[in-house]
This record gives sequence, structure tokens and C-alpha cells, in this order.
Amino acid sequence: MARHKKAKGTDVKRSLITQQDPRSHISEQYRTIRTNIQFASVDKELTTIVVTSSGPAEGKSTTVANLAVVFAQQGKQVLLIDSDLRKPTVHYTFNVSNTKGLTNVLTKQSALGEVVQPSMQENLSLLTSGPIPPNPAELLSSKAMEELIKEASATYDMVLFDSPPLLAVTDGQILASKCDGTLLIVSSGKTEIEQAIKAKDLLNSVNSHLLGVILNNKKLKNPHYYSYYGE
Ligand SMILES: Nc1ncnc2c1ncn2[C@@H]1O[C@H](COP(=O)(O)OP(=O)(O)O)[C@@H](O)[C@H]1O
Ligand SMILES: [Mg+2]
Repeated sequence: MARHKKAKGTDVKRSLITQQDPRSHISEQYRTIRTNIQFASVDKELTTIVVTSSGPAEGKSTTVANLAVVFAQQGKQVLLIDSDLRKPTVHYTFNVSNTKGLTNVLTKQSALGEVVQPSMQENLSLLTSGPIPPNPAELLSSKAMEELIKEASATYDMVLFDSPPLLAVTDGQILASKCDGTLLIVSSGKTEIEQAIKAKDLLNSVNSHLLGVILNNKKLKNPHYYSYYGE
């Protein structure tokens, strides 16, 4: 994934290139990832996918949000769940409220259908994190989480999960063990090889189905040449 225009900080409104500029080379790369995911699942139904990485700020949230958009643009009913209960960003990216979300469902205060919100992208629904709990890993490994995943997979064609860094907390590993597939983000020039290997080992240890690795933040030699195509 090529480096694109960077948003500052985590708590500001972020822009989504696949929405704002669907014909750009970068949006095309997200569609290529979408195709590769579809090829990765020829003989196995792939509905729930977690996007994770070894460390912070490697592009998990950016990637999962853009993938959610390109799957929705293809006509799939998509639910994007912010299961990064440490540093949630889905509500900033899509500019929606986060007063209620995943944690309300996991603590049985709300039903899934009550807290899912529509987004500006047709076919894409959002489940934001909800209030940040003191015990994220416990909530994510609960029976309630399994029930939620079951209900979401029965309702949507595709359920994508954002997550916190694998090496920092166990949340990502827990999610990976519960989902049909995992995508591992590696940030060009940032992620250390040892960290990436450790992350892969953690995923293997929970028998997660690693669909592939996405190289993010790759600097293009001549970004202008690649900016647009077909115009
Ligand atoms: N391919 C990319 N090009 C430009 N900026 C990116 C890219 N991927 C991520 N970023 C930026 O890097 C920062 C961290 O990305 P984010 O997706 O929030 O990482 P994570 O969820 O892994 O912590 C954000 O400001 C985001 O906009
Ligand atoms: Mg994130």
C-alpha cells in the first residue's frame, strides 16, 4: 500500500481515499487487496476478518476502513467493528458518534441492531468501540463476543475488525482466534523484521488463518506517475 496524504494525530477527522478518490492508484491497490482476499477463500467461507499489526501506527485502522469501503462499493453488506478498545478511531474516520458501541453490546446493555450506525458509504455499517472499558481483553474473550460475531456474520456479508497492536496486548490474538481470517500489516521502514516474525508467531499460536501480509507506507519513486489512471 503506497503512502498517501497523512492525517495528523488519532483524534482528528480522517479522510478516506477510497471514498474521496476512488479512481486513484491507491484506491486501486485497496481493490487489489479485496480481490486477493476473495481468492484466498475459494473453498472456505470468509466472513469475519481482523486487521492487525505488531505495533502502533502501522496502518491497521487506515487499511481496515478503506477495505470496508471497497467491499461495500462492490455491493457487499459490510460491518466495520472497532475492536481496538484501547485507541478506537473508527468514529473519527467516519465522523460518527461513539457514545454507544461494541462495549455496550458486550456488557448486554444494548442489542447489536440498536448501536450499529450507518455510514456515508452505501452498504457500510459501523459498530464503534463504545465507552472504553477497564478490561478490554476480558470483554473480547467473553461468550458475549462470540455471540456478537455469530450474529454479525449471519446479518452481514463481510465483518471487518480493527484491533490494537499484537505485541502490546492480547486483544488482537484473541480476535484472530475467533475470526475466519487475519491480515497482518507491516509498515515499510518502520516495522522491525523481528517484530513482524513475533506477530506472525503469536497468530500461529492461536491457529489463526493468516490470509496475507500487507506492506503499508511504501514510498513510491514517482507518486505522480501513479496518481491517476484511465483518465
Ligand atoms: N498508506 C498510508 N499513507 C499515508 N498515511 C498513512 C498510511 N497508512 C496509515 N497512515 C497514517 O498513519 C497514521 C497511523 O495510521 P493508523 O491507521 O491509525 O495506524 P494503527 O491503526 O495501526 O495505529 C494515521 O495518521 C494514518 O492516517
Ligand atoms: Mg488503529
